[in-house]
Amino acid sequence: MHFLIPAAGSGSRMKAGKNKLLIDLEGETLIYWTIKSIFAASSISWIGIIGQPFEKKLLLNSIKHFCNKVEWINGGETRQESVFNGLNSLPKDAEKVLIHDGARCLVNPELIDKCALELEENDAVILATKVTDTIKMVDHKGFIKETPNRKNLWAAQTPQGFLVDKLKKAHKIAIDKNWLVTDDASLFERLNWKVKIIEGDYKNIKITSPIDLKIAKMFLNNPNY
Ligand code: C5P
Repeated sequence: MHFLIPAAGSGSRMKAGKNKLLIDLEGETLIYWTIKSIFAASSISWIGIIGQPFEKKLLLNSIKHFCNKVEWINGGETRQESVFNGLNSLPKDAEKVLIHDGARCLVNPELIDKCALELEENDAVILATKVTDTIKMVDHKGFIKETPNRKNLWAAQTPQGFLVDKLKKAHKIAIDKNWLVTDDASLFERLNWKVKIIEGDYKNIKITSPIDLKIAKMFLNNPNY
């Protein structure tokens, strides 16, 4: 299975003054832990890391011995553009791809393998968890418009897996139609193409704000929790 890791963000919400993937987490960088989990999955054969060219040395050095086992791909201005660059850099024989945010360093390798397995039967799969909060749709003035039924709400995570040709096609349509989305499954939905949900775990958080770093530290120190 081919694997792409978008790692080209600036991490402005972390307010660390640098790419959040380069932040120290228990003596290693955040991206190191993500890569370590991915290498622990048995279904992965090829890994591409998508980063900003000016951070190439820092990112690759920080993943230590894994750096000789990954391919480097230059990222774009948005996550969507970064993934599109990644898709265009896959080896010609890549039929399926799993895409995983560099910022989700607590991903369970067994769930990565589960996504790979489900991709044998489906064109698109994503990890997601049932939403436990009541979610509000809010207007631009800050007033509630509606409350969607919680039973139908899931929080999307990564990995997200796709047939490469189909995802490339979706990205090209998105460029033509000026769609800007925050995950790849959104493109499939807009095209009415099916995406299968695989139940993930609540541990697989996207490190976004300083509080997420505290949660990640707790889990890294208690791997069986
Ligand atoms: O900003 P956010 O945390 O939602 O980004 C999700 C992932 O996409 C992160 O791992 C980030 O590094 C990556 N990204 C990217 N290229 C961008 C913006 C974000 O690869 N231009």
